[in-house]
Amino acid sequence: MKVIVCKNYDEMSATAAGELSKQICEKPDSVLGLATGSTPEGMYACLVKDYQDGKLDFSKITTVNLDEYYPITPDNDQSYRYFMNYHLFSKVNINLANTNVPDGTAKDPDAFCADYEKLIDSLGGVDLQILGIGQNGHIGFNEPGDILYPNTHLTDLTDSTIKANARFFDSIDDVPKQALTMGIASIFKAKRIIIMASGKSKHDAIAKMLGETIETKCPATILKLHPNVTLICDEDAYNG
Ligand code: PGA
Repeated sequence: MKVIVCKNYDEMSATAAGELSKQICEKPDSVLGLATGSTPEGMYACLVKDYQDGKLDFSKITTVNLDEYYPITPDNDQSYRYFMNYHLFSKVNINLANTNVPDGTAKDPDAFCADYEKLIDSLGGVDLQILGIGQNGHIGFNEPGDILYPNTHLTDLTDSTIKANARFFDSIDDVPKQALTMGIASIFKAKRIIIMASGKSKHDAIAKMLGETIETKCPATILKLHPNVTLICDEDAYNG
């Protein structure tokens, strides 16, 4: 795994945005795998700035997002569809029809997940996948446990994830208890993966990910098996 340690959050954001910009310029019809959460917000702001400065063209870009709460409606300001529209899609010239976020209103989540997996395959896989990492080592909503699931699936959120994400909601009771998420094999279909981390709270998960072992109780450790992963993190996440 390649490791890039940045001074702080802003430098991490600019560095990750630089990699995405390069991807978009080199292959204007790229399929980008995108993530939500507080970690990539600054990266999206950098991309929007590059677009406004005339450096980027999203017109041929397709996106697939990692995950979405379940159930949740897209107009809920805590939904990941809302997040993506707000932070990126509404601010650049992307065709909204080419943006894909798991559907938090799907009536039959299992059928939806099977279709989402087919969609990823039909796009020829993701060119560049952005990941965050949970304090508990989750990637997407592949939560720590005895087993990991390969494909897109409906999952129960762990108490630690519900607690970590409660900061975005009025109360912890409002945090959805389930989510739709790409699985480990879905993520591994990406030709290249960038995993981002900022802040001391991510240090333990990052240290485990960079350690010797692969453990289902820290799902990010499995990224050791992917041939093209870059960690872009700040000093707090790296050093603790
Ligand atoms: P965060 O979430 O960016 O809000 O810390 C990351 C994650 O849980 O994957």
